[in-house]
Amino acid sequence: MKILVLGSGAREHAIITALLAEDAGHQIVAAPGNAGIAADVAVETALNPLDGEAVTEYAIENGIELVVIGPEAPLVAGVADPLRTRGIPVFGPGKAAAQLEGSKAFAKRIMEAAGVPTGRAVRAETLAEAESALDELGAPYVVKADGLAAGKGVIVTPDRDAALAHATHYLAEGGVLIEEFLDGQEVSLFLVSDGHTVLPLSPAQDYKRLLDGDAGPNTGGMGAYSPLPWLPETFVDEVIDTVALPTVRQLAAEQTPFIGLLYCGLIVTDRGIRVIEFNARFGDPETQVVLPRLVTPLSSLLYGAATGELSAMPRPEFAMDTAVTVVLASEGYPEAPQTGRTLTGLEDAAAVPEVTIAHAATVRDEATGALLASGGRVLSVVARGTTFAEARDRAYDAIGRIHLDGGQYRTDIAARVS
Ligand code: AMP
Ligand code: GLY
Repeated sequence: MKILVLGSGAREHAIITALLAEDAGHQIVAAPGNAGIAADVAVETALNPLDGEAVTEYAIENGIELVVIGPEAPLVAGVADPLRTRGIPVFGPGKAAAQLEGSKAFAKRIMEAAGVPTGRAVRAETLAEAESALDELGAPYVVKADGLAAGKGVIVTPDRDAALAHATHYLAEGGVLIEEFLDGQEVSLFLVSDGHTVLPLSPAQDYKRLLDGDAGPNTGGMGAYSPLPWLPETFVDEVIDTVALPTVRQLAAEQTPFIGLLYCGLIVTDRGIRVIEFNARFGDPETQVVLPRLVTPLSSLLYGAATGELSAMPRPEFAMDTAVTVVLASEGYPEAPQTGRTLTGLEDAAAVPEVTIAHAATVRDEATGALLASGGRVLSVVARGTTFAEARDRAYDAIGRIHLDGGQYRTDIAARVS
């Protein structure tokens, strides 16, 4: 199949790695990709993934049979819509359904209409409204930017002044949500949706905070592992029945069918499963631990969703082993990442058994041929193992072989299951 993948992160590299692993002879093009993706498949660095008309024209001219939209920005910008209008199979919701991620207030409204269990939340547009909501819901305080904020829009803090300062910053950008604090283990569950039928992938756990022991600021995600051996066996079915299907049905009933990846960000509280957020795309870095264990061809799921044929397909199968990923980030991430620094040791790292490297912010210096870090989250080291202890040892052996001045990574990823 001729497949166009939009995006340039480790998630997109992991998607491409999974498509290549099918050994089905797919012709894959990424736009814009990164240095690691460019080493594996063709890249179109000149094609702007946010320009729906340009992407559609490119897809038509090049006979693309499936477009996979990786990141949230092109989804929220509505890039899927002109593709769908022209009859090109596209994995990713249109602008209207992508609001499930793009607007926390929209997501809360859908959850309410669909009866999906979530924390209480109050939308505030003024400082006075924010203050009274903070006092009503109490500490620890949860304040979220209403729009997209690349993982940085959320603060969870016992400090009322810090909560207010965060609210003040994001009020200027269009509003905030003050939420009830939910206590429990977090789970990311991905479901492939064709607008009506959903098929679950294997659950994963993400580490959102920058530092060991869940200290420091929220990030896009610093590591992950999958599967989650501590979940009850009924978990996935319960999420399908109480969260995913009601949400997809509600969106279909509103004439905005959700075609793509429904990312359920959940907290398992002692009063039951609660949704903390939806995303409209694969999670990063969870994708790096979910897709390597996927036995069912990824392209069949993405194409089945894009063409409305999931009801005819069985649940995806997964290998019985484990996967752990550790993210290497630049000095200064998430506030002010230092870029342009040389990255070495990747071949040595990839030589560790069962280890692959998913590139995120990497570029090749054309003059010297050196690999440079070009953003906050630079790469993900992904390791598989029969046990979590084995996968974790391999991941840390590999990341220890990589050198980046000032580079930072957590040392406790998957420690709780190893
Ligand atoms: P979000 O961007 O909504 O996923 O929030 C980022 C992170 O903040 C989540 O992964 C949680 O760790 C934390 N968080 C968000 N909402 C809540 C909540 N209501 N209660 C507790 N923690 C939360
Ligand atoms: N890892 C969290 C996310 O992708 O939103």
